[in-house]
Amino acid sequence: MIKKTLDEKAFQLLKEKMEQGLFPQWVLTDPDIYELEIDKIFGHTWQFLAHETELKDSGSYVTRWMVNDPVLLVKNRKGEIKGYLNSCTHRGTQLCTADHGNKKNFTCPYHGWSYNLDGELIGIVAGNKVYGEEMDKSEWGLREIPQVASYQGMIFGCLDPAAMPLEEYLGDMKWYFDILLGRSDGGMEVRGLPQRWVAKANWKATAENFAADPYHVQTTHRSTVELGISPEDPLYAGYGHQIVTENGHGINVITSKTGKARVPYQGTPDSMWPMFKKNLTPEQDEILSGVTVFVGGVYPNLSFVSPIHGTEGHLHNYLNFRMWRPIGPEKVEVWCWFLIDKAAPEEYKEAAYRGYLGSFGPTGTLEQDDTETWARIVEVSKGLMMRDKELNYNNVSNYLMGFDRVEPDESFPGPGIAYPTTYLDAISRSMHENWFKLISKDLFVKEAVK
Ligand code: FES
Ligand SMILES: [Fe+2]
Repeated sequence: MIKKTLDEKAFQLLKEKMEQGLFPQWVLTDPDIYELEIDKIFGHTWQFLAHETELKDSGSYVTRWMVNDPVLLVKNRKGEIKGYLNSCTHRGTQLCTADHGNKKNFTCPYHGWSYNLDGELIGIVAGNKVYGEEMDKSEWGLREIPQVASYQGMIFGCLDPAAMPLEEYLGDMKWYFDILLGRSDGGMEVRGLPQRWVAKANWKATAENFAADPYHVQTTHRSTVELGISPEDPLYAGYGHQIVTENGHGINVITSKTGKARVPYQGTPDSMWPMFKKNLTPEQDEILSGVTVFVGGVYPNLSFVSPIHGTEGHLHNYLNFRMWRPIGPEKVEVWCWFLIDKAAPEEYKEAAYRGYLGSFGPTGTLEQDDTETWARIVEVSKGLMMRDKELNYNNVSNYLMGFDRVEPDESFPGPGIAYPTTYLDAISRSMHENWFKLISKDLFVKEAVK
């Protein structure tokens, strides 16, 4: 039996299971594992912070979290995006308490120290009297987030100054982001504010649900079939390709049964199609013109979905980014962004936004379905019996439900390892392998005998 506390013996047992492709259920909610994840995964990987259209002008700012690290993301006068710890260097209180806004400088609500957009300490209340001449303000500026970088307007941060650059980390996923975010002139824009709410869930389960699991759609979201929105065919979310890329990232390109487009270019106005063709390579255009839903993830905690939504004659498409911020082994704070092509007609944008609110987001019907399942996973994973039970990732050896072995499809036009179905555990397996690689780095490594 695997002991629940993560001593070296428990770790070795976990290692054995992982090497067999088995994922023990207790790790979903284990507090020791959770602490390891915060340090070894979230302390070293790139995490999504914001989209550049949330920071339009000099002085625009948003406040965000990288798990427990508070982030103040600011556009300075030079137009650069800077990331600081949102904590005053005097006594440490949270410096900026608003979610977003525009400021010339930031004044601490505790004793009134103020900082400019470059994080420099520029004002101390009664400074000369209290601190005299010896206080060197230049030593007490805001502390910077070690790495902040963006790709296609998506801004990410990383707490490890030695971590690989963002573009290298994203790897082949960039090619798919070019389709999702770079297809339109002017790119995408965030509409409204990111919505956020707390769900009873473990971040691994929520990330996997989006990035790797179209198989749940036909059961969890059965109501969409009953309403006539989705087809009766239980394989309907399985047509297309599941693509595994580097570092635990992956994307599902879901199509109709025939592989042909249900509606071209996801129901976007036909006036936009020549622009897509102009901005994409022929291979990217081939994928975009025929896809029904893109859904995937950037490891560890960013997911995205780009569906066709609505009924015939009123179809639209949008892009939903969501970040799963762990706030305990059994809780996530969900951050949810709506993005739409800047170049789309205004009435189309508005219709797409209303469609998004009715499907994903805290009041969306699809969201409720998933949230209930995530809560039930954590509720049942803490028991004594779970200590030596593993979850079914048999499909990880690429056998699809007892049918023929699924081999990668070499003819798929995009990069990564593309399997010709999305009812597959290939991305899940890659996420869990990456999870184990990261949490076990330097763990229980014996010092070399001198
Ligand atoms: S804690 Fe910010 S000024 Fe004192
Ligand atoms: Fe779902």
